[in-house]
Amino acid sequence: MRERSKIRNRERREVNRTNNSKNNFETMTTHNNNKEHSTPSRNILITGGAGFIGSHLVRLFVNKYPDYQIINLDKLTYAGNLANLKDVENKPNYTFIKGDICDFDAMQQLFADYQIDSVIHLAAESHVDRSIKDPFSFAKTNVMGTLNLLEAARQSWQNSENCHLFYHVSTDEVYGSLELGDALFTEETKYDPHSPYSASKASSDHFVRAYHDTYRLPVVISNCSNNYGAYQFPEKLIPLFINNILKNKPLPVYGKGENVRDWLYVEDHVCAIDLIFHKGKRGETYNIGGCNEWKNIDLIRVLIKTVDRLLGRNEGESETLITYVTDRAGHDLRYAIDASKLKNELGWQPSLQFEEGIEKTVRWYLENHEWLENVMGGDYRRYYEEMYEK
Ligand code: NAD
Ligand code: DAU
Repeated sequence: MRERSKIRNRERREVNRTNNSKNNFETMTTHNNNKEHSTPSRNILITGGAGFIGSHLVRLFVNKYPDYQIINLDKLTYAGNLANLKDVENKPNYTFIKGDICDFDAMQQLFADYQIDSVIHLAAESHVDRSIKDPFSFAKTNVMGTLNLLEAARQSWQNSENCHLFYHVSTDEVYGSLELGDALFTEETKYDPHSPYSASKASSDHFVRAYHDTYRLPVVISNCSNNYGAYQFPEKLIPLFINNILKNKPLPVYGKGENVRDWLYVEDHVCAIDLIFHKGKRGETYNIGGCNEWKNIDLIRVLIKTVDRLLGRNEGESETLITYVTDRAGHDLRYAIDASKLKNELGWQPSLQFEEGIEKTVRWYLENHEWLENVMGGDYRRYYEEMYEK
C-alpha cells in the first residue's frame, strides 16, 4: 500500500515537472511536492488559503483531517501571505500552489494533476473600499475567476463516479442593506447588492447556482457576516483601528459611525464551513452570522478600551483619536444574519462572546507586531495615503 502510494506520488511529481515547462504553468510554483504522503481519502482544493479566512480554514483542515490532501491555491495578492500558515507549511498533507484563478488553462491542469474532488472557494478581492476605486479587478477575480473554477470542476468531474463538492464561500453583503428595525437576512432574502464588491459576489453566487441547475454540479454556498480575528489584513475596520490606536494615529470613522455590522469570530466561521462541507445539502445555501450586531462607533469604543487596557494606558484615553470622515459611497446601513437554518439543521452556533473574541484578537495583534509591520510595506503605505491622507 505504502509502496503504491510512493509510486503514485513520484508519478505525480513527474507530471508536475512536465507541466511546469508548459506555458500555462509558468506562473505556478509548487512547494512541498517532495513529501511522501499515504493515499489521501480526499483531494481538496482551497482557493485563497493564504488570506485571512482561508488561512484559518487551511489550518483547521490540515490539522483535523490528516488523511485529506489540502491543496492551497493562492495568487498571493497584497492580501495573501504565506506567513499566515507557517505552522502548517511542512505538514505532509499540505501543498501550496501559487496561481491565479483567472487562468483557466492552469485551473484545468490543476484539477487533473491533483485529482481534485472537492473545492472550497474563498479566493476573492474582498475589500469594499478597493472595489469602489477599481471595480474591474473585482469583476475579473470574483466573477470570471469563479466561473473558471466552476468550468474546470465541471469538465474534470463530468464522467466521474466519485463524490464531489464545489463549496462557494460568499458574503451577507449580497442581500443589500437593512433599516434598523428590519427583519434579519434569511436564505430567502432577495439579492440587492450595492457596492461593486457585493455585486461581484452576488454575480458569482448566481453562477454557482446556474452550474448546479444547468449541469447538476454539486454545489453549496454559505453567506457570512463580518469576520474578525488574527491575520486579518489591516485595511479592514478592526485591525486597522488596533494598529492606529497602537500608533496614536487618527481613527477614521465613516459618516456618523451609525452603521451596523454583525461580527463573527473567524474560527467560528471556519467551523461552520467544516460542518457545511461535510453535512450540508447539495444545492443549498446557508447563512452564517454571529447574532452579534454592533453600531460601528460602539464597537470602536470597546476596541479602544481593550487596546488601552492591554497597553497599560487609561481605558478610553485613545477616544481622542476618533475622527469622523467623509462617508463611504453607497455605505450599507446595516447587515444582520438569521443563522437559524444552520443552527436547526446542522447544529452550529458561535462559540465565543464578542468581548472575549475582541480581547483575543487585540492580544494577537499586540503579540504579533512583526506580522503587522511586515504586511504594511510600500503597497500598504501607498493605499493608506491615497485612502486616508489625501
Ligand atoms: P482576503 O482578502 O483576506 O483573502 C483573499 C485571498 O484570495 C488572498 O490570499 C489573495 O491572495 C487571494 N486571491 C485574490 N485574488 C486571487 C486570484 N485571482 N487567484 C488566486 N488567489 C487570489 O479575504 P478574506 O477576508 O479572507 O475573505 C475570503 C472569502 O470570504 C472571500 O471570498 C470573501 O468574499 C468571503 N467573506 C469574507 C468575509 C469577511 O468578513 N472577511 C465575510 C464573508 C465572506
Ligand atoms: O459583511 C461581510 C463583509 O464584511 C465581507 O464580505 C467583506 O469582505 C469584509 O470586508 C466586510 O465588509 P465591510 O465593508 O462591512 O468591512 P470593513 O471592515 O471594511 O468595514 C466595517 C464597517 O466599518 C463599515 O461600516 C465601514 C466602517 N469603516 C471601515 C473602515 C475600513 C470605517 O468607519 N472606517 C474605516 O476606515
